[in-house]
Parts: sequence; C-alpha cells; structure tokens
Amino acid sequence: MKQVTAGFFPPITFEREQSRPLYHRLYDWFRSAILTGQLRPGQKIPSTRYLAAELKVSRITVLCAFQKLSAEGYIESSAGSGTYVAKSIPDQVARLRLSKHPRLIDRPQCSGSRKISQLSAELAPFPTLPFGLDAFRVGLPAIDHFPISTWSRLVARHWRQPKKEMLMYGDRMGFGPCREAIAEYVTTVRGVRCDASQVMIVNGSQHALQIAARTLLDPGDPVWVEEPGYPGAVQAFHSVTGKPIPVPVDDEGLDVKEGTRRCPKARAAFITPSHQFPLGMTMSPGRRMMLVQWALRNNSWIVEDDYDSESDFCNRPIAAVQGLDTNRRVIYIGTFNQVLFPSLRIGYLVIPSDLASAFCRVRQASDISHSTLEQAVLADFIREGHLARHIRRMRVLYMERNELLVAEIEKQLGATVEIIAAEAGMHLVCLLPDGVEDRIVWQRAAEAGIASWPLSICYQRNPERGGLILGYGGVDQKQIQDGVRKLAAIIQDSL
Ligand SMILES: Cc1ncc(COP(=O)(O)O)c(C=O)c1O
Repeated sequence: MKQVTAGFFPPITFEREQSRPLYHRLYDWFRSAILTGQLRPGQKIPSTRYLAAELKVSRITVLCAFQKLSAEGYIESSAGSGTYVAKSIPDQVARLRLSKHPRLIDRPQCSGSRKISQLSAELAPFPTLPFGLDAFRVGLPAIDHFPISTWSRLVARHWRQPKKEMLMYGDRMGFGPCREAIAEYVTTVRGVRCDASQVMIVNGSQHALQIAARTLLDPGDPVWVEEPGYPGAVQAFHSVTGKPIPVPVDDEGLDVKEGTRRCPKARAAFITPSHQFPLGMTMSPGRRMMLVQWALRNNSWIVEDDYDSESDFCNRPIAAVQGLDTNRRVIYIGTFNQVLFPSLRIGYLVIPSDLASAFCRVRQASDISHSTLEQAVLADFIREGHLARHIRRMRVLYMERNELLVAEIEKQLGATVEIIAAEAGMHLVCLLPDGVEDRIVWQRAAEAGIASWPLSICYQRNPERGGLILGYGGVDQKQIQDGVRKLAAIIQDSL
C-alpha cells in the first residue's frame, strides 16, 4: 500500500476530567480517528515521546494507549522506522457503529436559508472534460514542444540564490523587468502604443477581462460582445454588468452598424480582432476605424483580446486596434498561456495611463500580484530570444497540424461538414449538417475520448447551425488521424 505523506497530524482532543483513565481516552481518540478516516491507513504517527510532550501527559499514558491500539490491530510498529496506522483496519464493520462518536463523524447540519447570489446561479458553466483527452482540446498548445530545459535553466538561475524581492509581495502592476519586456514585445510585434508603466501582469486573459470589466463598468451597463464569441468573455462581463448584448460578426469582424442599432450607447465593446474567436476572421481596417470612432463619440471603451496572435502562421500583418486609437479608449489584453503553456497563468493588460491606478485598486481586491519568480523567468525568456524562437517553431508546427486536420476531415467527412476558421491559430470550426445538435455530438465524442467545444456555447441566442470547435495545437499526427476517424463515425451516426 502507498505510504501516506508524513508531516501533518490532526489535533488530538480529549476531555481531561472524566472517570475513564487517560490512556483509554487517548486510545478512543485514535480509534475514532482511524475509523472515520481522519487518520489514513499507512499514515505515520508521531513518537510516544513527542506525543507525551505535546499533550502534556506521561509517556506511560501514551505507551499504554499504543499498546492497546496495537493489540487490536489499529496501529503497527516497524523496528527503527516508527509507528503507523495499520494498512488494513481489523473491524471495518465498526464503521457502522460510529454513532458512538457523533462529534467526529457528523457532517455539519445545513439548516436555514442558504441563499447564494442570483448571478452565480445564472452564469453559464464551461464544458469540462477529463484530463487525457488531447485531441481536439481547445486552447491546448503543443506543450510537448515547449523548451522545458531552457525554462528550467532560467528558473534555476533565479532560484539558486534568490534576491529578496523574489520572495516578497510583488508590485500590484507586476514585476518591473517583465513589464518592460512585455512592453517592448507588444510595441514591436503588435503595434501597441505603450510603455512599461501601462502594463499590468495578471493571471491570464480571463483574469484580465474580469479586472477590466470591474474597473470600467457598473452593474447594468450595456456591453457589446461578439456573437458567436468567447464564452469566457460573456461570463466575465455577465458577472459584472448583467447579460452582455450579442452583436453579430461577419467576414469583417464585429458588425459595428448592427451594434449601434441594437444598443448605440453601450459602455464597452469586446472584440478579438486579430483572430476572431471562434470563427477566425481578422477584423477589417474599415471596421476597426468605425469601432474606434464609435467609442470616441460615445465615451465608450474597447476591450481588445489578442489571445493568440502569436500562433498566426499566415503572418497577417494587421496590428492591434490599440495602436490605431488616439483617444486612449482601448484596453489591450494578451496572454502567454496559449503561446507557452496554459498552467503558466501569465497574461497582461495594457491600460491607458490615466486608468492605471483604478485598475490597480480593482486588481488588489482580487489577488494582489502574480508570482515574481515566474515573471522574472518570463522576462529572461523574452529578452534572450527564446520566446521569438519558440513562436517561429510553433507557427510551422501549427500550420502542419492544421493542414493535416483539414485534410483528414475532408477525407473522412467530405461535404457532410463545412470547415471554417482554418487559416490561423490553434483551432478550427467544423460546421455540422443542418439539424444535427452539436451538444449531443460533443457529448458522444467526449464519451469516445475526443475533446472539443460545441459551437453553440459561443452563442447567447440560438445559432443557425451547430458545429464543433476542434483544437489542434496539442495534437500529434496519429492523434489527429485517429481522432477524426472516431469523430466521423459519430457524426455519420447522428445524421
Ligand atoms: C478568445 C480567448 N480569450 C482568452 C482565452 C483564455 O486565455 P487565458 O488562459 O490566458 O485565460 C482563450 C482560451 O481559449 C480564448 O480562446
């Protein structure tokens, strides 16, 4: 049986003023703790000397209790190594008699009103899938191609003899050198206009959206979000303002005219202009200008989520909307969780300088700061050229994976489905035949070991046609071929 980690031991509590001998009360505590699972089979028990000192009782008391526990098979000693909870408990049936120890086993009674916020009940859940389903998990990059050895060398560099600031609370805006590296990166590569004082390092795009929504908007404020759009953004805005207003996208991105028709005075607009999520188009220059002018006329904000511009293997040269805006109305959001690895949890906001302190106050209300060590490592990773190298390699890999996935879908499913959003990024959309429910196909695919997202979760209104969003970033050739074969069988079966 697996050895249970040593180190933590539950507090031992027993009444002192009682008629039964002390050793028996100690024995009772151990027996109950073992039977209720508070102490687990194989768990190490502190020494009798230590327990006697901790509990302020004589060592004989502890020895007598242990003798009885050992004689009844609850604990076992191993010479030179110590005393452990027995790996198999003698009287499992005794669990049935646990009502003798109500204090230990009763779950707290839940009585009275247990009202939670209406909002938490309303928020639509994300589809969750078990680990291990890589094909075709949305948002999963090629983590097995991540340069782990370079990253660990940089971690070791900062960790071997860490400066004091590595271990202290960090700056609310983020670690200075990392903010500088990011500012340099986004100004050079994405045409964002900023300096390091405007960069706030957060946990990821999702965190950035939440902070932006809380800083810019009040409950009830209308916000445009793309339809279909990123469900995480809908959640973030919904959790602050109430339901956002869906505005359709077409080949040129967010339909600004339609947004103006539906709600001319919206306080903000959320966009993914470089690679619309999930449909993949790039917002046209004309639409970008229209949106910037609308924001200027209305004193509204634009929240620009540039979540995966790094994996744009077509090298489309359109710079960020933030760089076009002369009235500082754009909050730009970027993330390293897609380009490096999702558990990194580092993203950033580029904030108009007059709003920096407001953003800081809101940020502090949620999480204070991100790990300084990881920011220091990321700063070196960017500065020393590893990020640029990794991006170049991943673009080639994602292009190959994209081509293979498209070819396999065409081979297995032909005209049964329609592929869109296949020009860039790490996912594409496979539109299903009319009348086929994407949530049912999604569910059946998950049961067969294939991850995806149903396209309908990206809509607040009913979509005209269902589809599956298939991520290919973290999927190798064999997984693509096997995955499409299984998916094709499920789709054919749903017709
Ligand atoms: C449009 C969009 N924004 C944000 C995110 C999440 O990014 P992060 O992991 O940095 O929160 C995703 C993830 O798939 C996304 O598709």
